Amino acid sequence: MPRYLMLSVIALGAAGAAGWLMTTAGAQRESTPESIDIAQGENLYIENCASCHGANLEGQPDWRSPGPDGLLPAPPHDETGHTWHHPDGVLFDYTKLGGRAALALQGVEFESGMPGFGDQLSDAEIWNIISYVKSTWPERQRAVQAERSAAAAAGR
Ligand code: HEC
Repeated sequence: MPRYLMLSVIALGAAGAAGWLMTTAGAQRESTPESIDIAQGENLYIENCASCHGANLEGQPDWRSPGPDGLLPAPPHDETGHTWHHPDGVLFDYTKLGGRAALALQGVEFESGMPGFGDQLSDAEIWNIISYVKSTWPERQRAVQAERSAAAAAGR
């Protein structure tokens, strides 16, 4: 296992198992569309994602601990969360298919509170949302995530 995966497992603690699986799982979507519309992504984020992940991408309180229903709360998408630990393909699948279906594709059984948006949002819209989220990260997180996306796309 590459060193950064081990580090993220250690750093994530309770959410580590899911985080690790998502880092290694995730079908790859070849490329993002040529014309990314970050402004549209932001609007779509507010309409579809902010209710759980927060208007400022701050996530829900105590997101590392499962709630009474056994499900993990919605994590932040800002640099305090682990969204930036995952390559593009994983973020795309998680958004399009929902957490459970995205992980089931990889043979991983995991109850997830993340719904799938494949019926409501086009692929281009999902990429725009992901691009908006990424545009809010500081340079270091963006660089790390870009490297992981490149590695995943290259099958490394
Ligand atoms: C009903 C609440 C809810 C809504 C709405 C929602 N999510 Fe989530 N999301 C969750 C939860 C809960 C998780 C943690 C899932 C898990 O444990 O698998 C999550 C996880 C994720 C993850 C992977 C976790 C990570 O590492 O950050 C991504 C990516 C994600 N959501 C994107 C989105 C996007 C994009 C939208 C809007 C299109 C959205 N979510 C809308 C609840 C929600």
